[in-house]
Amino acid sequence: VAQNDFAGKKVLITAGGTKEAIDPVRYIGNRSSGKMGYALASAAAARGATVTLISGPTNLKVACGIKVEYVEAASDMRTAVLAHYNESDIVIKAAAVADYRPQSTAEHKIKKTGDTLQLVLERNPDILLELGQLKKQQMLIGFAAETQQLVLHAQEKLAKKNLDMIIANDVSVPGVGFNADHNIAKVLYRDGRIEELSKMSKEHMANIILDKILAECRK
Ligand code: C5P
Repeated sequence: VAQNDFAGKKVLITAGGTKEAIDPVRYIGNRSSGKMGYALASAAAARGATVTLISGPTNLKVACGIKVEYVEAASDMRTAVLAHYNESDIVIKAAAVADYRPQSTAEHKIKKTGDTLQLVLERNPDILLELGQLKKQQMLIGFAAETQQLVLHAQEKLAKKNLDMIIANDVSVPGVGFNADHNIAKVLYRDGRIEELSKMSKEHMANIILDKILAECRK
């Protein structure tokens, strides 16, 4: 890996899952560990980028030299990401953002009275879709985690969200993807190219993704 090949580049990265509050003690969450996003942030910083990491709650440590903002809900992540978007050169949305949130958050802990409890969920804003619509100079990279029809769904997202690149993970394969230390992925581009990334550590994959981003920037 060439040292400092990201010098002068401002890279905005989101990582981890969001938590959507049900009441003061409960939330809806997902299995994202944040490892892939943190690996990308560390690798970009090591290669000389100025990195801002917008992180959902995780158990991970942030490498020094990385500016980090912690958020919980998708709506907070949206605010934080939009605040940094205009100044960014490269934006990598590795976070697993909740698609739905409770329509209302109870002020007090919900007591177990009924035999069933119904929660009404409403759509969260799609941050990446909005970034695609606002896009100017930024190179925009998304992630897709799917359990079926990986390539088809990833291609649809790439087009709909106006991305330059999408990293597609099949999360039905045991030992890789969500909460694992390794990953297997496909990289899809606007012109229809698809590249396969075989099983490797998330740290290694982070550097390969950064190589590919740089190659696209130079075109
Ligand atoms: O459509 P889907 O949620 O699968 O798209 C995944 C990509 O979109 C990821 O890069 C994720 O970070 C981003 N996303 C987002 N805001 C949402 C949902 C997903 O930015 N509400």
